[in-house]
Amino acid sequence: MPRKFFVGGNFKMNPRSPEENERLINFFNGSVLDPHTEVVIAPPSLFLIPTLENIRKDVKIAAQNCYFQSDGAYTGEISATQLYNSGIEYVILGHSERRRLFHETSEFVAQKTRAALDCDLNVILCVGETLEEREAGRAQNVVESQLQAIVAITKDPEHWSHIVVAYEPVWAIGTGKIATSAQVQETHVGIRRYLATAVSHDVAESTRIIYGGSVNANNCKGLASQPDVDGFLVGGASLKPEFVDIVNVRV
Ligand code: G3H
Repeated sequence: MPRKFFVGGNFKMNPRSPEENERLINFFNGSVLDPHTEVVIAPPSLFLIPTLENIRKDVKIAAQNCYFQSDGAYTGEISATQLYNSGIEYVILGHSERRRLFHETSEFVAQKTRAALDCDLNVILCVGETLEEREAGRAQNVVESQLQAIVAITKDPEHWSHIVVAYEPVWAIGTGKIATSAQVQETHVGIRRYLATAVSHDVAESTRIIYGGSVNANNCKGLASQPDVDGFLVGGASLKPEFVDIVNVRV
């Protein structure tokens, strides 16, 4: 089965008010979106439910994080169970901002991924190397070791149908410095090759691998034409009207 193109919008800690969030929702609701692309937006946790209630039904909602315990004394956390029971379909895990600023290890990301998969939440799993790691020729190793932690907790290959891998080189996030189409294609092929060895050929072929890092309306076309780029995880541009152009890149 062909891999369905996927465009995610990660709002990060934006926008500043419920009113601005509502304006964004209204804009998406009034836009024409390619029906052949799966569109998922990830507002901050405070705005998840109002967004879910007001967004058009063909756009899905993702949380930007979750905790691995289902409930209990974990101040400030939201569980995968709570997200799923509230109608949220996806969660972003392993984003480099969480790895770097909140010291999340690959093992911790894997624990959360396990919890999400156990309650049927889909995971947008972010992996990616720093500039230093790329310059040292270690990009592929870094990405593979981040994936390895997930392979270790996904005993059932069926789990991979609930995971979208987002390759996000840290040096391209929010910097305006985009990876070239060739660099992205090469890394995505490397990820697919790794999944074929570590999990199965079928999983490697069917898993969607999307790119994130300074994607905008101008640069998305070249990237989208690469055979192993199955979509995007968009940060800054997901807060702007051009997000619609990115969703419609293949129209
Ligand atoms: O999750 C999205 C990525 O961090 C990309 O962010 O498009 O602002 O570079 P950006």
